[in-house]
Amino acid sequence: MLKTKNNNQVHLDGVSLQKISEMYGTPCYVYSKNSLINDFEEYKKAFKSKKDILICYSVKACSNINILKIFNNLGSGFDIVSLGELERLKHIGADPNKIVFSGVAKSDEEIRASLEYGILLFNVESIAELENINNIAKKMDTKANISIRVNPDIDPKTHPYISTGLKSSKFGIAIDQAVDVYEYANKMKNVIPIGIDAHIGSQIFDIVPFVDSLDKLIELYSKLKDKNINIKFIDMGGGLGIKYSDEDNPPSKKEFASKIIDRIKNLDCNLILEPGRSLVGNSGYLLTSVLYEKQNYDKDFLIVDAGMNDLLRPSLYDAYHKIEEVNKTSGERKKYNVVGPICETGDILAKDVELPPLVKNDLLIIHSVGAYGYVMSSNYNTRPKAPEVLIEDEKIILIRKKETITQIMENEFNNE
Ligand code: LLP
Repeated sequence: MLKTKNNNQVHLDGVSLQKISEMYGTPCYVYSKNSLINDFEEYKKAFKSKKDILICYSVKACSNINILKIFNNLGSGFDIVSLGELERLKHIGADPNKIVFSGVAKSDEEIRASLEYGILLFNVESIAELENINNIAKKMDTKANISIRVNPDIDPKTHPYISTGLKSSKFGIAIDQAVDVYEYANKMKNVIPIGIDAHIGSQIFDIVPFVDSLDKLIELYSKLKDKNINIKFIDMGGGLGIKYSDEDNPPSKKEFASKIIDRIKNLDCNLILEPGRSLVGNSGYLLTSVLYEKQNYDKDFLIVDAGMNDLLRPSLYDAYHKIEEVNKTSGERKKYNVVGPICETGDILAKDVELPPLVKNDLLIIHSVGAYGYVMSSNYNTRPKAPEVLIEDEKIILIRKKETITQIMENEFNNE
């Protein structure tokens, strides 16, 4: 939890952010282990009356091995979308039986490696992919468990870039074709249809689209039962939104759970959830230091050392992240556009942020960057990726070293 101490400095879980910046420099990602645990426990508590539930943390939201270990120790399963994410889970020894593989196009290599590790199931996104999984499983003399990811054509009323369950999106198989695809899969020798899956989008604030989607999945479940295809898992994907600004009011996990459990409790079926953002989003912060202040015509800019290479969400989705100063002072506040050092007009972290007078090296903290923060960072402008730090019981633990410029260049040395 963030708290301003007597010395007017903002601390995270009792640890001085100023101290972290002195130890590891800026920009620097900082996560609260307590907060990660609380969010996972809240899910577990909210769904405790549904005993057959598997929470599969969506690794793409924040994939640091040390964070995966925290969820693994709490009993979480995992939702993955690449060989790289699978390798991370193998590295921490995650239970293969709690891993689901999503994503619109799994490569042969990814399918093979997942079958070798023995994952719970693949969320299949097309007939071509289904056939490919069947062929690969046959060659490996094994059987692959699958869910069909259906596209329920539901508007989750979120940013268009993160809406995935609409007719117009590339994801899933049209729900009205689903029964035929299941019958086709059921005849195949090397796949076993055991689940139904949908993921309608991300940062969703309205429970209604989730419920509408679930109702469609339940309807499909019954149709399949009539055809003797017995589904054991209904996977609702992820998508529950989080609070980014003081005005935001996302549904609590408890509210979300209560609407879902009611509908599913009488089915002889496990529930899978794939939350990402709602497990890590509010637990991560980005520390950045002031480089320069400047005025262009009538606009005041504060240029900081984190840019769109470190945090892409504001540039890509016009996303709002709260920014505040770490050392509270009483000077007159002014509105700034807080921008990064990257050579792009769109390299804006936040517009019209009210801040006190600040000078070079003063520290700012950017909120709610735990999900899709570090993982979407890049080396644009040949800038090394930031370090990541975890706070655990007032201890500061470096969980990722700052990348070096040599590391960025090393794969290019071959051809010189
Ligand atoms: N399952 C599937 C199949 C997904 O595609 C996703 C996210 C999740 C689960 C987790 O969703 P969550 O609970 O985090 O909403 N980069 C964007 C978000 C992209 C989400 C991609 N898929 C952002 O920064 O807002």
